[in-house]
Amino acid sequence: MKRLEGKTAVVIGGTSGIGEGIARTYAANGAVVVVAGPAFDEELGRRVAEDINSEGGRAEYHFTDVTEETTVKALIESVVSKHGSIDILNNNAGVPTPKCGLCPITEQGVEDWDYIMTLNSRGCFIGMKYAIPHMVEQRGGSIINTASNAAFKCDFPGGISLYNVSKGAVITLTRSAAAEYAQYGVRINSLSPGFIGTKKLQFQEFPPEEYKTVLSRIPMGRVGSPEDVALVSLFFASEDSRYVTGQNIHIDGGHMVI
Ligand code: NAI
Repeated sequence: MKRLEGKTAVVIGGTSGIGEGIARTYAANGAVVVVAGPAFDEELGRRVAEDINSEGGRAEYHFTDVTEETTVKALIESVVSKHGSIDILNNNAGVPTPKCGLCPITEQGVEDWDYIMTLNSRGCFIGMKYAIPHMVEQRGGSIINTASNAAFKCDFPGGISLYNVSKGAVITLTRSAAAEYAQYGVRINSLSPGFIGTKKLQFQEFPPEEYKTVLSRIPMGRVGSPEDVALVSLFFASEDSRYVTGQNIHIDGGHMVI
């Protein structure tokens, strides 16, 4: 039997990159997967779902914008009414530091803070807020939140303080919620990717010196892939981690240890 057979999984931010890798891995392991994402990524999300279906899995796209609470509520309600349960939720939607990329705190605006906290932290909270009551009622569920090594390594690279804070909030939210809901059989863990190459973020296309610097910070000597992250997410989603909650795993080829 496949590890997620009979489970319904929602991946918010499943339309590309790491989330797409997670959606594909869950589907390959037997879950029915709802690939959720915002209107501007609808085409990508539909394509991911179509690919999964054409490979023999089961998936569908559903619109959700984590900056609009009502759309997340509607997503969760629709999944439960259509599939009967929500067993796995990935809060993976996330964006980099707005406006100026690598930029000191004093040059960031309050609107930059609001933007990144709304998307990366508040969005994660809203996903949990609407999924947890169903999981409590079912007496079971697994929530996996995407944080980042950036929540721990503040020099990674410098100038992304607001992003670091937004992911630090994800870690604390994960731990707090895990303590509150363990008694109901709901497990809540987080993933902290290091340098993960995606179609949008191709480290090998950086100027050679910058790429060399990135590699020098990864003891395993290679950038990670969405699949590397997805395999750890599968562990958290499945019964293999049935006695694990409130934990964070770094998927980073050793970046955190140096
Ligand atoms: P990506 O840009 O490919 O994926 C971001 C996902 O978030 C997309 O599916 C996008 O549609 C979704 N999203 C954006 N705005 C949204 C909104 N308003 N509502 C709902 N969904 C929205 O980027 P990537 O690299 O795959 O990142 C995925 C997650 O991993 C993010 O949370 C990111 O912060 C985190 N991360 C990525 C690392 C990397 O090296 N790629 C390193 C550490 C963390």
